[in-house]
Amino acid sequence: MEVIIRPDEAAATDLVARLIVARIEAKPDCVLGLATGRTMERLYARLVQRIGEHDLSLRRCRTFNLDEYIGLPATDTNSYHQFMRHHLFDHVDLNPENTHVPDGVAADHAVEAERFEQAIKNAGGIDLQLLGIGTAGHIGFNEPLSALTSRTRVKTLTPATIAQNADAFGGDPERVPKRALTMGVGTILEAREIILLATGVSKADIVAEAVEGPLRSMITASALQLHPNCKVVLDEDGAKGLSGRDYYDFVFANEPEWRSYRE
Ligand code: F6R
Repeated sequence: MEVIIRPDEAAATDLVARLIVARIEAKPDCVLGLATGRTMERLYARLVQRIGEHDLSLRRCRTFNLDEYIGLPATDTNSYHQFMRHHLFDHVDLNPENTHVPDGVAADHAVEAERFEQAIKNAGGIDLQLLGIGTAGHIGFNEPLSALTSRTRVKTLTPATIAQNADAFGGDPERVPKRALTMGVGTILEAREIILLATGVSKADIVAEAVEGPLRSMITASALQLHPNCKVVLDEDGAKGLSGRDYYDFVFANEPEWRSYRE
C-alpha cells in the first residue's frame, strides 16, 4: 500500500483524476470499478474536466459500480444508476452498454449478484477500482463483519451509513433503504489496482484504523492491506490520524512514479 497526502481536498481529488486519465491513456479499453458518494461527486467533476482537457475517449472503457440500494429502480433519483448518470456517464462518451450497476430491483438478488460477478469476469476483471471509505470503515457497502472473502451479495446497512447517506433522501434516515447489493470485499480485492480517496477530518480516525490498524472484518477497508497494488490518497485533514506519515511523504518525494505528480 502507498499513502499519498496532498495539501487539500482539491489537490488530492485532482491527483486521483490524473491517475485515472493516465490509466485510460495507457489502456483505452480498461475496466473501471466505480464508487458513489460525496467524495466521488467531487472526483467525477474533476475527472470530467481532465478528460475534456485531454480530449480522451472512454468509448472502449467498461465500468462496474460497487453497489446499488435494494428496492430503488434505475429510474429513481436516489438510485446509484441516476447518481452515475448525473455525475459521470452523461458527461463522457462511455457506451451505456458498457456501464454496469447492480440491479436493486432484480426479482432474485442472489441471481443478480451471480450475474454481476460473471459480467466482471467476462470483462476480464477490473483494472482499476475506485473506492471511498465510510465513517464505519466500509468499502462498497461492506459493513462491519463482512467476510474479507465475501462476494457480491445483499448487505444490511449500519445506522451510521444510513445517517451518512440521509442527505440525499431529504435528510430523513427513514427514507434511506436499509439494504444494498454490493460487491464483496473479495470481489474488490481481485481488482488489479485499487485507489481509495478520502478527505476531510471526519475520515481521519477511520483512515488511520484501516491503513495502520489490524486487519479485521469490523473495518473492511483494512482488507486493502492485503492488496499488492493499492494507493490511498488523502488530504491533510484525512491524514491527521496517521502515525507513519513521515515515511509516506518520503516515498512520495522519492519514488520516480510520482515525479510528475509532485508539482
Ligand atoms: C458507495 C460506496 C461507499 C462510499 C463511502 C464514502 O458506492 O462505495 O463506500 O464510497 O460511504 O462516502 P462519502 O464519500 O459520501 O463519504
